[in-house]
Amino acid sequence: MNTWNIIIEGFNKADITKHESIFSLGNGAMGMRANFEEDYTGDTLQGSYIGGVYYPDKTRVGWWKNGYPEYFAKVLNAPSWIGLHIKINGELLDLNTCLEVKNFHRQLNMKEGWYERSFSAMLPNQQEIQVKVLRLLSLRYDELGALRYEITPLTTEATIEIESYLDSGIKNSDANWDERFWNTLEISSEDNFATILAETKKTGFKVHTFMQNKLFIDNKALNISPKENKKENYIGLQYEVKVKQNQTFRIEKYGGYSISNDYLTLTKSKTLSKSIALFDSLLEKQKEDWAHIWETSDIVIEGDEKAQQSIRFNIFQLNQTYSGKYAHLNIGPKGFTGEKYGGSTYWDTEAYCLPFYMATKGAEVARNLLMYRYNQLDKAIENAQKLSFTGGAALYPMVTMNGEECHNEWEITFEEIHRNGAIAFAIYNYTRYTGDEFYIKEYGIKVLIAIARFWAQRVSFSAEKQKYVILGVTGPNEYENNINNNFYTNYLASWCLRYAAEQVTTLQKEDITKEEIQQWLHIAQNIYLPYSEKYGVYLQQDGFLDKDLKPVSAIPAEERPLNQHWSWDRILRSPYIKQADTLQGFYFFEDHFTKEELQKHYEFYEPFTVHESSLSPCVHSVLASALGKTDEAYTLYLRTARLDLDDYNKEVHEGLHITSMAGTWLSIVEGFAGMRVKNGELHFTPRLPKHWKSLSFKVIFQGETKEIKL
Ligand code: BGC
Repeated sequence: MNTWNIIIEGFNKADITKHESIFSLGNGAMGMRANFEEDYTGDTLQGSYIGGVYYPDKTRVGWWKNGYPEYFAKVLNAPSWIGLHIKINGELLDLNTCLEVKNFHRQLNMKEGWYERSFSAMLPNQQEIQVKVLRLLSLRYDELGALRYEITPLTTEATIEIESYLDSGIKNSDANWDERFWNTLEISSEDNFATILAETKKTGFKVHTFMQNKLFIDNKALNISPKENKKENYIGLQYEVKVKQNQTFRIEKYGGYSISNDYLTLTKSKTLSKSIALFDSLLEKQKEDWAHIWETSDIVIEGDEKAQQSIRFNIFQLNQTYSGKYAHLNIGPKGFTGEKYGGSTYWDTEAYCLPFYMATKGAEVARNLLMYRYNQLDKAIENAQKLSFTGGAALYPMVTMNGEECHNEWEITFEEIHRNGAIAFAIYNYTRYTGDEFYIKEYGIKVLIAIARFWAQRVSFSAEKQKYVILGVTGPNEYENNINNNFYTNYLASWCLRYAAEQVTTLQKEDITKEEIQQWLHIAQNIYLPYSEKYGVYLQQDGFLDKDLKPVSAIPAEERPLNQHWSWDRILRSPYIKQADTLQGFYFFEDHFTKEELQKHYEFYEPFTVHESSLSPCVHSVLASALGKTDEAYTLYLRTARLDLDDYNKEVHEGLHITSMAGTWLSIVEGFAGMRVKNGELHFTPRLPKHWKSLSFKVIFQGETKEIKL
C-alpha cells in the first residue's frame, strides 16, 4: 500500500489483462493499456487509442427494425509504437515461455505520471536477464510518448538483437464483422526514425505513427545504423549489440501519433521528437505538469491509506483521460483503457464527470464539455427527426462520437431518453456552480429549447389517469426495459420543461411563443409520477410492486454479479436494480424533497440495488452521507473508489471505469464533505468516516480556488 503509487508484485499469467488495464497511461489526447513492449504469447488485450479517432462499425442485429442506428462507433485500436522484438543469444524474450520470472514488479507513479515494470527472467536457453522499463505519455506534448527499456544479462555476456517496430496491422478485439479498420498508406524510415501513415476506413482519419530509437550501453550512446525490416503494415528497425555480463543495454524509444487532418502535423512531430527526445528532460516536464494538476485536484485524507490511494488513482485516471484542452474530445466510459463502450460519449459526462472537471480544472474546461453537446445540436435534432419528432425537438444520442447515435440496441437508443435530461441538468449545474450566465444565454438556451420540445412531444396524455405519461422507456436502471412511467424520467422531463420555460422567459427569447411555454408548463405540472401510498415512496415504474420483492441479500453470493450468471430474461423480471434510478432523481433534485422522503426512498431502494453499474455506488454513497449513514457511505465509497483496483465487478480486464471515477470524487466532496451550492454560495456539512483524521481538497468555485480542510 502506497498512497502515491499503485504497486503490484509477482508474475501471474491470469492477471496480465487485468493489470494491463490498471497500469494504463493516457495524456488526454491518446492512451494505451499496459501491454508489454516485448513479445508475449500469453493472454493479452492489446490497446492503444487516439482521442476522437473512431470507426463506425456496421450494426449487427438479428432482425432489423426501422430507426435502428446504422453503426456502433468504436474507438480504434491504433497502430502500436511500443513494440520491441528482443532476442538474447538467439532466444526470443517472451514471458509466457520463460523458465522462470522473478521479482516481477509493476508500479504506477501517480504523482509524477509514469509507469515502471521490472523483472528478471530465465529464458529457455538458460540465459538470465534483468529488465527494467519506464514509460510515459507526455502531458506537455500531446503526440509524444517515451519508453526506456533496460536489459542486463546476468548469466554470461550476450548478444542482444532488438527490433523496434511500428505495427499498423492491428485489429479491434471487438469488431462486429471481424474487419480491419485501418489501411496502411505509406511506410518510411530514415536513420533511427520511422513512420507509418495509416488511414481509418470510412472515417478517413489519417494518422502518422512514428518512432525514434536511441541506444546506450552503460549510459554511453551507441551509434549504430539499423537494418530496416519493412513488411505489409509493419516497419522494424533492427539492431544487434554485444553486452557484457552485468552491463546494461538500454533502448530509448520515442513514439506516438500525429493526425494530419487535425491539430498536429507530421513535420511537427518529427522535429519535436528529434529535438526533445531526451528522456530525462521529458520526465522532468512530466513531473512538473503532474505537479501542476495535483496542485488543484489532490484530495488528502489523513488516517486512511486505502481510501487515500484509491481517490488518487481515480483522480489520476480522470486526468489521463480528459485534459479539457479540446472541445471535440469527451470522456468515454473506459477512457483510453479498453474497447468496451466504444470510447464514446454517454450521459456519464453530464451526470457524473462535469462536477469534477468544473471544480478541479475550472469553468473553461467545463464549458468545453457543454460546448461538445451544443456543437452537436443539429445532429440531435436530426436524430429526433428520424424517430418522427418535429419542430426542432432534439434527442441527444445515448452514445456518440460525432453527434450521431451509435448505440445499437433499441431499448437503449429509442428508450433510454433520460440522457436528454442529464444534458439539460448539466447546463443548470454549470450555471449554478460557475456563476457564468453567458453560456446559457448564448448557447445553452438553444439546447434547452430543443430538449423541452422533445419532452413535450414524447409524453402522451392518458385519458384514464388525466395526466401526462411517458411510455416505453428504459430508466438509468438498465435491468428494466420498455417500461412505463419511470419516475426518474418523468420527474426529469417535467423539471426540464419548467427550467426551459423559466429560462426562455428570463432571457426574453421572443422566438418562442407564449402558447408553447404554457404548453410546457401545463405538461410539467400534470406529469404522472407512480407512487405507493403503502410504502410512501415513488415507484421506479408502473407495476414495480408486482415483482417478487426479495432483497439482494437473498441472492446466493455465487450468483453475483447477476449479469454474469442470470439470463437477461430473469434479470428483467426481477426487482434488482442495476444502478441508482429513483435515487438518481433524489440525488439531482435533493432540494425538492425532505430528509424524511430521502430516507424512505433510500431505505426502500438500496436493498434491491446490485450496483452492477460502476455509476451506482457513488450516488448511494453521497445520499447515505446526507442521511448521516456514514459507515454505509464509507462502504459504498470503497466500492466505487476501489472498483477497479479490487475488481469488484470482475471485469477490470476489459478496461477501467473512468466515468464512475468522477463519482468517487463526488462521494468525497459532496458526500463526506457535504459540499453544496446554495444561493450562489458553497456550503459544507462534513460527515467524515470516524477513522479519518482530516480531509482536505481544493475546488475552483466561481473563478477562485478555495482550500477546504475538514
Ligand atoms: C450504464 C449506463 C452507462 C454506461 C456507460 C452502463 O452499464 O448502465 O448508465 O451510461 O454503462 O458507463
